Amino acid sequence: MTVLLAVSGWDPSAWMTRLVALLPGRKFVTPATLADRASVRYALSWRHPPGALADLPNLRAIFSLGAGVDHVLVDTLLPDVPIVRVVDPDLTARMSEWVVMQVLLHHRQFRLYDRQQREKLWAEDENQPAAGDVRVGILGLGELGLDAARKLQTIGFDVAGWSRSAKSVPGLVAYHGDPGLGALLARTDILVSLLPLTPETRGLLNARLFAKLARDGRVGPFLINAGRGASQVEADIVAALDSGALKGASLDVFEMEPLPPNSPLWSYPNVFISPHNSAISTPDAVAAYIAGQIEACERGEPLRNVVDRARGY
Ligand code: NDP
Ligand code: OXD
Repeated sequence: MTVLLAVSGWDPSAWMTRLVALLPGRKFVTPATLADRASVRYALSWRHPPGALADLPNLRAIFSLGAGVDHVLVDTLLPDVPIVRVVDPDLTARMSEWVVMQVLLHHRQFRLYDRQQREKLWAEDENQPAAGDVRVGILGLGELGLDAARKLQTIGFDVAGWSRSAKSVPGLVAYHGDPGLGALLARTDILVSLLPLTPETRGLLNARLFAKLARDGRVGPFLINAGRGASQVEADIVAALDSGALKGASLDVFEMEPLPPNSPLWSYPNVFISPHNSAISTPDAVAAYIAGQIEACERGEPLRNVVDRARGY
């Protein structure tokens, strides 16, 4: 039984080492070293080269090495087998750390005081509301959105969320669907997107949406996006920063990655940029999750966290 590791943009050697240790006796190959296509039973993908998973007659499942699967589904030659995504406490905790850090960065005006420190300037902005007076709206109430919501609530923020289907989450105001989006935005000072990329979420974070954000808050509005870059219209973000429709942003994902050096987003004092690493999949945590699922599948048990291809996530 062979496992195919098909990635681009990453060095797969750390994954190979972990997987070999976790699944002794299995053979691991890359597209470059794959000789016998019929021997492949599982494929692990991070932005695999399109077509790399085709013509594998005994393939049982594809594992995304991340929580998102847009990079898998983009392949038009994808075989019709289950796609499993990462749901892992390590990844979730990393994302919540990043989200909490960004919300606090804007809430506590980190960028302002950082600038002032460099200028040796002792000056206080007296508009410092309590967390409870700041409304955070989270787009996407899945594994990541819900955990971030809980952690922000622990700090005291007034948190609400939005999902595709109706949700009843104790202690959290939860909106859903198109009508729910307007209601969420109207009560949001800091908007956090943890949405997957699907046809519905592509380009969603645009000028029309920013115009619906609350204008009566003590801070903001701010945009924080760690979902997918193709969900944001960067020209609209730039225009909103210029007009004041957005007071700042934190972006971990971009329309084009790496973010090109000539993007104006690099230069805004109140824009925080990170290189799509808000929640990395570490070989130590995620290889164990995948190895466990492969072993369960080999025992005839059902796969967990299988993607719904029709929904796209
Ligand atoms: P989940 O599938 O658990 O949650 C997705 C959430 O988005 C669900 O609540 C879902 O609604 C909601 N959603 C999807 N489509 C729509 C829509 N059209 N309208 C409203 N809500 C919608 O995913 P995760 O939380 O695990 O991950 C979310 C995304 O985060 C990933 O797909 C990936 O793109 C991104 N990510 C980014 C990382 C980074 O480093 N930047 C790291 C990891 C993930 P419902 O509950 O009704 O299904
Ligand atoms: C993911 C990511 O989807 O890192 O896990 O973007």
